[in-house]
Amino acid sequence: MGKPKTTYICRECGASFPKWSGQCADCGAWNSLEETASPSAARTGPGQRGNWTGTASAEVTSLADVRPEDSSQRLGSGLSELDRVLGGGLVPGSVVLLGGDPGIGKSTLLLQAQAALASEHGSLYVTGEESAAQVAMRARRLDLDPSRLRCLTETRLEVILATAASHKPAFLVVDSIQTLWTEALQSAPGAVAQVRECAARLVQFAKQTGCAVVLVGHVTKEGALAGPRVLEHMVDAVLYFESDSGSRYRLIRAVKNRFGAANELGVFAMTGQGLKPIANPSAIFLSGAETPSPGSCVLVTREGTRPLMVEVQALVAPSTLSNPRRVAVGIDPNRLALLLAVMNRHAGIQIGDQDVFVNVAGGIRVSETASDLAIALALKSSLRESPLPKGLVAFGEIGLAGELRPVYNGEERLREAAGQGFTEALVPEGNLKGVRARITARGFRTLAEALAAV
Ligand code: TYD
Ligand code: MG
Repeated sequence: MGKPKTTYICRECGASFPKWSGQCADCGAWNSLEETASPSAARTGPGQRGNWTGTASAEVTSLADVRPEDSSQRLGSGLSELDRVLGGGLVPGSVVLLGGDPGIGKSTLLLQAQAALASEHGSLYVTGEESAAQVAMRARRLDLDPSRLRCLTETRLEVILATAASHKPAFLVVDSIQTLWTEALQSAPGAVAQVRECAARLVQFAKQTGCAVVLVGHVTKEGALAGPRVLEHMVDAVLYFESDSGSRYRLIRAVKNRFGAANELGVFAMTGQGLKPIANPSAIFLSGAETPSPGSCVLVTREGTRPLMVEVQALVAPSTLSNPRRVAVGIDPNRLALLLAVMNRHAGIQIGDQDVFVNVAGGIRVSETASDLAIALALKSSLRESPLPKGLVAFGEIGLAGELRPVYNGEERLREAAGQGFTEALVPEGNLKGVRARITARGFRTLAEALAAV
């Protein structure tokens, strides 16, 4: 082993370089490289074949001898929607990163979860941002039993680990990872090197003791978790807490989960007494307007493991610009461009000289291609200024040749629509097979056929 050498890590992408420069060569971010000390790895010369002479070997286990984690060991957080996003509760020994804008309710959510967990298991709430009095005040406001909640106001990693090691909690919350610092490094709290090192040590602690750890992470203006992306690689699950500005609904989304479905969505409402899970979110994302308006179409998307009904709205208006505007909120702008091209080429609908705005109501983001047909219907409806019939839903993927492609879980989507009181569905023909849902489903082979039918 040589002496420790200096490396520079990019705050944005986590790439490391031997020399400082003004711009990260990997992700192109400016002024994002920070100095950090890393022990140099032992180097061996290439080229010589023969016996490997490295460090002593370790034992290899057969997977047949390893007992898989059984789901009954998961810790329920008492919040059904949080458990759903986690894939059925917290896994002992796992580390979850919870990101979100300031004031969205991260601390509230975790305090509520802690109160539910504390009744059976020990838990510890480490806060580097608020005083114990502030946390106690929030607990009182949430009507939680304060005698069961254990709080530690501390930012030194070594002290936190020592305290946790002696208290042996089953559930540890660190609010937030950006406030922690370790004596092992010179840089200030919040610096990439500090965040990375503190997270790594907490991950190690979780794996060794079987304690479930939740790290709160701040989100930058651009919406990414502040600190290097490497944080996302280190942890078992990454959850984002989001909301439509001004709305009281909060969405929690798993962007990564080693123990459950990624892209799972949980829905909460922020009330005067904290966050309340919403078990049937379909109802809240629909406008419920008595008379349907032009440019609006309801679709059944699937977020994670359950179907969800959302409303897509389109506005098509003659443009005065030589380059008409294309604005997409909640869907991929490239997908919108593709759909406009297919509508033009295969269904004879010219929108080229119009401004086009598409929005998914309720602040939801739909990434599924199953939303294609509903977007096309909404666009045509706005262009012709004629509303779609009341009680109509649509889903289906549109191919470049103008064909309608079936989507998976069609039956489940139709059942959800029927359950929400919808009476008519426009779907790809391939999704009609064996449908038993109580809804009139009409199947089409091409986009042109589907558009002509309404
Ligand atoms: P908080 O959990 O402090 O957010 P974060 O930790 O993500 O920064 O949430 C603070 C916001 O939530 C604040 O604007 C007040 C609101 N709130 C309620 O509406 N009801 C409640 O019962 C509580 C505790 C907070
Ligand atoms: Mg907070």
